[in-house]
Amino acid sequence: ARLLLLHGPNLNLLGTREPQIYGATTLVQIDEAALAQCEAAGHQLQTLQSNSEAALIDRVQAAAGEGVDYIVINPAAFTHTSVALRDALAAVAIPFIELHLSNPHAREEFRRRSYFSDLAQGVVCGFGAHSYTLALQAAIHQLSLAPS
Ligand code: DQA
Repeated sequence: ARLLLLHGPNLNLLGTREPQIYGATTLVQIDEAALAQCEAAGHQLQTLQSNSEAALIDRVQAAAGEGVDYIVINPAAFTHTSVALRDALAAVAIPFIELHLSNPHAREEFRRRSYFSDLAQGVVCGFGAHSYTLALQAAIHQLSLAPS
């Protein structure tokens, strides 16, 4: 199957960005591990990080035409602000998992609201870079259940 891993704004800075919250793992390391995990399960993975809401929306819209089967997304700060990215995911109707490195529920009040959680198949948060491994494991499991 085809999986798409999306990273929202400021995640290009992982490794140096508030490491006490987000850890020391870089985005390159996260993408490399994700690729290996998906390949080992016999799936294809594409990834994109963007600081631009428009670029993420365009990527989600394109995914429908490309036959992407599953999306794993860390919307980062767009989690709490972007009706437009939410609407894009609703429009393409590709199942997705929302994930976060930190646990937004244990932080500032404004991080408790997500525009994605109620549309997501599930949410993984709080495990640092391992949140990606867990979310991809769940996505791979869901794909194994889906009729093909
Ligand atoms: C984040 C949590 C968000 O609240 C924050 O804006 C981020 C990263 C996380 O992965 O923990 O940029 O999505």
